[in-house]
Amino acid sequence: MSHQTILIIGPHGKTGSRVASRLKAAGITTRGVSRATTPAFDWLDEGTWPQAIEGTRAAYLTYHPDLSVPQAQHHIRKFCAMAQGSGLEHVVLLSGRGEKGASLAEQALRDSGLDWNVVQASWFAQNFSEDFMLDSIIEGELVLPAGTSVEPFIDADDIADVAVALLLEPGLRNRHFELTGPRPMTFAECMKEISNAVGYPVRLTEVPMEDYLATLREQGLPEQFVTLLQTLFTELFDGRNAHTAPGVRAALGRPATDFSVYARNAAATGVWQRTNVERA
Ligand SMILES: NC(=O)c1ccc[n+]([C@@H]2O[C@H](COP(=O)([O-])OP(=O)(O)OC[C@H]3O[C@@H](n4cnc5c(N)ncnc54)[C@H](OP(=O)(O)O)[C@@H]3O)[C@@H](O)[C@H]2O)c1
Repeated sequence: MSHQTILIIGPHGKTGSRVASRLKAAGITTRGVSRATTPAFDWLDEGTWPQAIEGTRAAYLTYHPDLSVPQAQHHIRKFCAMAQGSGLEHVVLLSGRGEKGASLAEQALRDSGLDWNVVQASWFAQNFSEDFMLDSIIEGELVLPAGTSVEPFIDADDIADVAVALLLEPGLRNRHFELTGPRPMTFAECMKEISNAVGYPVRLTEVPMEDYLATLREQGLPEQFVTLLQTLFTELFDGRNAHTAPGVRAALGRPATDFSVYARNAAATGVWQRTNVERA
């Protein structure tokens, strides 16, 4: 394995997969690791970390389930210490906006002595097409406690473009980049854009938080995920993250992708096709 190898934690995830394919296209050797790979990497098992890190010079880190959970800062600190001991020089950490837990984890990286970048992203548009909201979109009704909250959803392709620039351009190191889409949108506005792109109506139904959490539990979602969504919908949509930020332009010199473009591109992949559900 070349000493130039870039480590990607979460190579099958929403952003890691995109970072991996871009680096591959650029001729860069990568090592993607998660619980399902060989070697394996598990944030909850430090014994798996040394083999994953060894021989790599830079890393793109996605934490699971979310960088805001209390144990994340501890894991990031330990990961950085281990990385430094093995010769890894530079870590690009994916983070969120306005989350106390995530900012503690970011600080652990900045304090580590490694070269660093923090990518603070708004909610991903791909949550609608590659994550827990996908099935609801296909069924035509997204039930959320979101109300009139607005969020400038970011396209994961933009996140990957920025992450790759940070990994490959030394002049961008030791800075944080706050990435959002170009316009704050309500969830209802997102459903309109997605309806236009898929050609069938998808509506937003607002429910009280207690009803939402009860439904998630009925669906058998793990309690940790239920708690995480409760925090996200109570804290992050209180207006603190409603503003847009210029990180995509600052890193890439171009504007962030509009949600309508994301929706058209996602629809073209067939991910929202209703036949997918009927076959399942
Ligand atoms: N979604 C959003 O809107 C949003 C917004 C801002 C920031 N973020 C941040 O984005 C990060 C997640 O990035 P992502 O969305 O690109 O990833 P992702 O799609 O959530 O998943 C990445 C991978 O994590 C792996 N994984 C699960 N448990 C693991 C564990 N214990 N150890 C190691 N790997 C594990 C899974 O692979 P295996 O099953 O193979 O292990 C999965 O494919 C989080 O830190 C979150 O804070 C998300």
